Amino acid sequence: MTVRFVEDTPPDPIRFAYWVPNVSGGLVISKIPQRTSWDADYNRRLAQIAEESGFDYALTQIRFTAGYGAEYQHESVAFSHALLAATSRLKVIAALLPGPWHPTLAAKQIATISQLSGGRIAVNIVSGWFSGEFRAIGEPWLDHDERYRRSEEFIRSLRGIWTQDNFTFRGNFYRYTDYTLKPKPADPLPEIFQGGSSRAARDMAARVSDWYFTNGNTPENIRAQVDDIRAKAAENGNRPRIGVNAFVIARDTEEEAQAVLQEIIENADPDAVKAFGHEVKNAGKASPEGEGNWARSSFNDLVQYNDGFKTNLIGTPDQIAERILALKDAGADLALLAFLHFQEEVAYFGTHIIPRVRALEAAREKRAEAA
Ligand SMILES: Cc1cc2nc3c(=O)[nH]c(=O)nc-3n(C[C@H](O)[C@H](O)[C@H](O)COP(=O)(O)O)c2cc1C
Repeated sequence: MTVRFVEDTPPDPIRFAYWVPNVSGGLVISKIPQRTSWDADYNRRLAQIAEESGFDYALTQIRFTAGYGAEYQHESVAFSHALLAATSRLKVIAALLPGPWHPTLAAKQIATISQLSGGRIAVNIVSGWFSGEFRAIGEPWLDHDERYRRSEEFIRSLRGIWTQDNFTFRGNFYRYTDYTLKPKPADPLPEIFQGGSSRAARDMAARVSDWYFTNGNTPENIRAQVDDIRAKAAENGNRPRIGVNAFVIARDTEEEAQAVLQEIIENADPDAVKAFGHEVKNAGKASPEGEGNWARSSFNDLVQYNDGFKTNLIGTPDQIAERILALKDAGADLALLAFLHFQEEVAYFGTHIIPRVRALEAAREKRAEAA
């Protein structure tokens, strides 16, 4: 069943987020030369370029260790704060991993950053996919759906602490009795994003998340996820928005863009990609229904570690703008983007692609009004 919402007409402009390269090696598992750097100065400048270019959000990553390269990893909350301090409009989404993070600390840390940044911090609750990471830091590795049960309690705890005085909660993982956090976050409350696309991930989104982030995919597959989540969410009175990952290769001609994609894949680090493929079997493929992230990813797909090539934002600015509109038609509210050379390509995206997307959106609205 497809659920249509009155507030969908006219839809909001699609939003843009970029992946913060706070992890070394860029966003592809490839030895192709990249001008992207994981260091703080590069990232501060990138955040400024992004907000000048029309991006609304930046998403940091959390890794304690990585099995596919990504040897150096700055911590997500501290790094997010540095980016907020360097910008004035951009919202920064800090990734939190239940297990290492407890909701008590996370709620307080994020409330303080929210106060310091005028309400520009958001969170992405990730549920873990790499058992080796948990083993390395001595955290118990729960089975797939149990990880989501914990994440859901984590989200309920965060929201409860942020919105209620005398918060009381009895979960299997977390418990609160008459707890009052002061100060609470600034207005607006930090938005709660989540990553993952398995049954358990979707059900959690339908129940408690503000935003659902999924791996790269075709508009048809995104539409199927959106319909599924929105139908269930409506029953819960929730209305999660949808963010879709994509790796952008925008060039003056389609041939040039495709040549860059081939070069990335030809330079893929086969051992690292295979190691990553092996690890993610513990994530999506291990979900009971076998439908999670990476359940159907080929070797080439895995070279971009969140299936970003599948979304096919690879081509000329006109082609990419049209495909972004197709994603929006499929129900996406936000495109989460990665690039090979972030600073230059985020600026190029802002100059050449966002205006085309806005023009297409305006033309569509005009047609709708005339109809
Ligand atoms: C956009 C996006 C961002 C993510 N960021 C992180 C991250 O920073 N750290 C992490 O350990 N996992 C991250 N994940 C992984 C998810 O939280 C989840 O564990 C994984 O996608 C498995 O999902 P599944 O339930 O669909 O199998 C991210 C996933 C998505 C889609």
